[in-house]
Amino acid sequence: MTKLIVANWKSHKSLSEAEAWLSSFEKATSLFPATAKVVLCPPFPFLFSLSETLSGIDGVELGVQDLSPFPAGAYTGAISTQNLQGAGVKYAILGHSERRRYFHETHQEVANKVDQALQADIKPIVCVDEQYLVAQSSALSREQMESCIVAYEPLEAIGTGDNQPADEVAEVVEKIQQAFGPVPVIYGGSVAGNNVSEYLAVCDGVLVGGSSLEAETLAAIVQQVGHV
Ligand code: PGA
Repeated sequence: MTKLIVANWKSHKSLSEAEAWLSSFEKATSLFPATAKVVLCPPFPFLFSLSETLSGIDGVELGVQDLSPFPAGAYTGAISTQNLQGAGVKYAILGHSERRRYFHETHQEVANKVDQALQADIKPIVCVDEQYLVAQSSALSREQMESCIVAYEPLEAIGTGDNQPADEVAEVVEKIQQAFGPVPVIYGGSVAGNNVSEYLAVCDGVLVGGSSLEAETLAAIVQQVGHV
């Protein structure tokens, strides 16, 4: 069964660092198991440049970390799906807790972003924590929910090194699938090479922040998909 490894660089890296990362990562991809699918989510300005290199690499797709909740139009500073045409973006991380916390995104805005993504054939990866799972799913239609991948991201586990035990994650995966339907669920929160296999055993993949910043570290995580 395919496992999704989503790399979220957040707002790290310069363009030259991003390109150097990709050329190191590319060397490791020949060792990746066929059941691993990697989604690289760099900052917006690097998308077109990285997309050219990525188009020649099997099993690695491009994603974004956010999207405008509006269609193309008079929305200064927003990145619409029209702006992304030609970049080969296949996925969008939406409603990440950092977007909710620092940019005050609401459940309805996240739902509007999901709508924009689906209209552009971009797969939404909707981030949820247990406490607002019901509120977030209530803002989405049944059809929208069934078209999503859900990333379960317990707030206290993100960027802290305090990853949630896999048996607890498995319980929340069940709750998510009760609310969203039988959608793929991935886990995010201090995923690293020494704990990823626990999560691959109980869900459909992982969302990796800090451990995706070094190409070799992420490559080692992807290789573990072959041992599940
Ligand atoms: P982390 O980030 O792996 O650094 O905890 C995960 C995330 O923010 O999704």
